Amino acid sequence: MKRVRTAVLISGRGSNMKALLDAAKDPAYPAEIVLVAANVPGAGGLDIAREAGIETATIDHRGKGSREAFERELHARLLTANTELVCLAGFMRLLTPFFVDAWAGKMLNIHPSLLPAFPGLDTHQRAIDAGAKFGGCTVHFVTSEMDVGPIVAQAAVPILPGDDAHALAARVLVAEHKIYPAALAAVASGKPAPSGAVPTVYNPPL
Ligand code: GAR
Repeated sequence: MKRVRTAVLISGRGSNMKALLDAAKDPAYPAEIVLVAANVPGAGGLDIAREAGIETATIDHRGKGSREAFERELHARLLTANTELVCLAGFMRLLTPFFVDAWAGKMLNIHPSLLPAFPGLDTHQRAIDAGAKFGGCTVHFVTSEMDVGPIVAQAAVPILPGDDAHALAARVLVAEHKIYPAALAAVASGKPAPSGAVPTVYNPPL
């Protein structure tokens, strides 16, 4: 079986990246992780990737002159690794049309809310403040508008009385670690979607 060569982009601790690495340890998993790249030197996830024997790269976004200059360097690194799919996993950089177009239909992101509710930052506090009864997470294709692209997978978790953002984030993170590997598998294996539009994983068991 040919496995889809996948790069994971991170900015921090990399727990979603680790979930993808763990899933891809199974030789039957349809994607292999060929590169973990961070825009933040010393990002915690880099150590986890190295320990797992995965190639890593650090491309600091600072001092590059422009967003696009940074992205061109990152893009070149992805091409060097013969990357076919890109997974953003806590990658906290807004992307320009250059990068989004270069990876159109081949780049996924995980976002800690039930999109289209609560795009952007501070999702958990905003969900609590709004009185929402469910929070959750979404894996979607990346398009030029932030947190808007076609949805591949979602999972909902309850918001319980007394939850603060920290408690809700922890509950959502457990779900993130399940749906991201499931979503990547669906995209990498090209499973036809019920809707015909994009491969879809609907509420996988948590
Ligand atoms: C995750 O909760 C992810 O959904 C979120 O950052 C966290 C990264 O954690 N991403 C965003 O907010 C993107 N806008 P991780 O580094 O442990 O995977």
